[in-house]
Amino acid sequence: MEVSIQNVRKEFERFPALHDVSLDIRSGELIALLGPSGSGKTTLLRLIAGLDFPTGGAIYFGDEDASRKSVQERNVGFVFQHYALFKHMSVADNIGYGLKVRPSRTRPPKAEIRRRALELLDLVQLSGLEKRYPSQLSGGQRQRVALARALAIEPRVLLLDEPFGALDAQVRRELRRWLREIHEATGHTTVFVTHDQEEALELADRVVVMSQGRIEQVGSADDVYDQPNSPFVYGFIGESSSLPVTVEKGQVWLDDRSIGLTAKDAPEGSAQLYFRPHDVELVEGGNGCIVGTVAASRRVAGTRHVELEIGGAQHRVEIELPADHPAVGRSRVAFRPKKWKVFPQSSGAHPLRRQPAEIVELAPTGT
Ligand SMILES: Nc1ncnc2c1ncn2[C@@H]1O[C@H](COP(=O)(O)OP(=O)(O)OP(=O)(O)O)[C@@H](O)[C@H]1O
Ligand SMILES: [Mg+2]
Repeated sequence: MEVSIQNVRKEFERFPALHDVSLDIRSGELIALLGPSGSGKTTLLRLIAGLDFPTGGAIYFGDEDASRKSVQERNVGFVFQHYALFKHMSVADNIGYGLKVRPSRTRPPKAEIRRRALELLDLVQLSGLEKRYPSQLSGGQRQRVALARALAIEPRVLLLDEPFGALDAQVRRELRRWLREIHEATGHTTVFVTHDQEEALELADRVVVMSQGRIEQVGSADDVYDQPNSPFVYGFIGESSSLPVTVEKGQVWLDDRSIGLTAKDAPEGSAQLYFRPHDVELVEGGNGCIVGTVAASRRVAGTRHVELEIGGAQHRVEIELPADHPAVGRSRVAFRPKKWKVFPQSSGAHPLRRQPAEIVELAPTGT
């Protein structure tokens, strides 16, 4: 089932939790809503579910305007982080619940409900536990039962809000892999919310990056990591370092020194340079590079993370160097980013940005 979210706005007592959000979810797609706390992920998921209604805009399920339809009419399945199972019901009864409460017209016979519950229990790899009660299961097993319960109604869309949020890292990783397998086996259109970027990037076909009630970027894991289209996405996905610079005469300048990066298409004026700490090359020094003083250095697995002070102690950036690099205290390091982007200052290279960023994409010097 495709879901089309069209110019959706949501206000809570005049507080705008979502501003003009549009998104087309393809049938069978596994899509992640990723963003910091308060960015509007749960709000958007609840609007898709029909647990709440938009202040403006519309939500289509296929060709049908579902904006005012109930959860039941939309036929969605959902699992929330703390969406508890019914304590007094066995695992099998929990899974069959959504079918049992259907109006008699569409309710399958008892034996059929039981058969379906056992089949789903098998799918979530918990065969044999149908008689247990939720208190007799581990956290990960409970979440799997919750997922089986959501799947039992054969939902048109499956919605998951941080379904593995409360579990430890190891179990999360296992359930993640397993959710991907279930998704491939069942082909449900699935939207899941997470603020764990590793989870989003690993699991989803496409990631929707949200900030302050807006969608910043939609794309594959590669798109959002390699081609971030705003300072926010650059800073939010993966590691990044940034410096205030000026673009003048097609060159990037840092405190009146050219740093050897050509920015022909960028607007002239104040800008913010972004790069990944591991995407830098060391140079001999002199002109056309960034020179810093080592302020801190720590060994992290196979590399050395070095914090540099640039222009006195005015700015700090982090770069990653080979583990054996002798980055001792106060020594000078000269480098140049290999892959980078500059965003004009007016595009909101600023945490409180309200405007969508203007995209400036530039090729590094020498490529
Ligand atoms: N019922 C409500 N009444 C008033 N404000 C609300 C309500 N629900 C959410 N909000 C506000 O809307 C904004 C978005 O909230 P939402 O729950 O969608 O964030 P989220 O991205 O899911 O965050 P988290 O990662 O913390 O779960 C927040 O500022 C929140 O305080
Ligand atoms: Mg939330």
